[in-house]
Amino acid sequence: MLNGAIGIPPDKSITHRALLLGALSDRTVAVERPLDSADTGATLGAVEACGVGAAGHLGDRVTLEGVGLRGLHVPSTIDCMNAGTLMRLMAGILQGQRCDGACLDGDESLRRRPMNRVARPLQAMGADIHTSPGGTPPIVISAPVPLRAMEHELAVASAQVKSCLLLAGMYADGETWVREPERSRDHTERMLEAAGVPLLRDGLAVGIRGPVDAIALPDLTVPGDFSSAAFHVVAAVLRADPVVRLNGVNLNPTRTGLLPVLQRMGAEVRVEAQGDMAGEPSGDLFIARAGALRGTEVAPEEVPSLIDELPLVGLLGAFATGPTVVRGAQELRVKESDRIASVCAALRAMGVRAEEREDGFAVHGAGRIPGGEMDAVGDHRLAMLGAVAGLASDEGVAIRGFEAAAVSYPGFARDLAELGALG
Ligand code: S3P
Repeated sequence: MLNGAIGIPPDKSITHRALLLGALSDRTVAVERPLDSADTGATLGAVEACGVGAAGHLGDRVTLEGVGLRGLHVPSTIDCMNAGTLMRLMAGILQGQRCDGACLDGDESLRRRPMNRVARPLQAMGADIHTSPGGTPPIVISAPVPLRAMEHELAVASAQVKSCLLLAGMYADGETWVREPERSRDHTERMLEAAGVPLLRDGLAVGIRGPVDAIALPDLTVPGDFSSAAFHVVAAVLRADPVVRLNGVNLNPTRTGLLPVLQRMGAEVRVEAQGDMAGEPSGDLFIARAGALRGTEVAPEEVPSLIDELPLVGLLGAFATGPTVVRGAQELRVKESDRIASVCAALRAMGVRAEEREDGFAVHGAGRIPGGEMDAVGDHRLAMLGAVAGLASDEGVAIRGFEAAAVSYPGFARDLAELGALG
């Protein structure tokens, strides 16, 4: 039975930002409990490659000797590995560094992801930045030029694009604004403000007044990652286990959109807020399942608040009665895999009726899943989805490429086992 309490690994998005803003600070910054994963290792490696002194270890504490907002020594190539967040945020940061030209590259999966969404608006600000012909990495940045501040209107909500443009806006003369159709996660804004940079706000738009001279990120402790917690939450709900308690989870409302969806589907979720960690609300989650799960519809405006949890909504849908439909989620097509195609393929491989749509999917639940063999296609969230599905399936699920889980959650199998699930 899944029954007990575990701590959740530190937040990936917050760790990336703490390492980057710590490196750019005018002080030595201690980051307590930064996530130890392949993705955040890439970010630590990148700031060290840029001449930032770092002591300590991910997972424990990293102390960064900040070099100031314009003090990176940029190498000719920065390897972003699988980390889209690193590549997109770095594209903004490099605009303010003295360098002769730099290249941002990544692994096979990152090399398939769209980078025009940052390159084009940066070009509009005057930056000399180019992607490969298909709009994909590597990204090449020539010696930075003075940037023009401007207003950007994003067609799709994206925290990575918004963050890139706000970071570049620190080096532009005047106000740089980013308006989104819906609010994406706001970790960058919170951390910039904590580092002493006042932001401008107007409804769904956020702005920054440049040039910013200096930032000073205070020491911080990274809270638990809601997106990692979500796998345990769903495992508990699917197996109808009594009550599972997840401790110290980040509860930033731009991240917790899975909770109302779970409630609509019939799960009981109790949140005990405890206070502030790294300038963000955090607390404990208590999960129970009241009875049968009902299908639901996730509307386009909900999507940014649970973008990384939508694969889990598909799995929940397989155990529900009635259809579960996700709409307005075409962004899933350009994540670590095409998550509309890969989630539907994985669910079908487990014997679930899942229908791919251009902007989402429909899952026709049968209250149970037979099980089978699926491929994680190199995508960490698919690998963990398979493990949760396997636990709740009739015959188990074999996962090809489970090791991809280490991109965000190296201890996932152990934690799932600790909750008694694999025993
Ligand atoms: C992230 C933002 C999200 C999310 C990704 C991490 C971030 O992408 O899917 O896993 O750290 O900013 P968007 O840029 O599409 O919001």
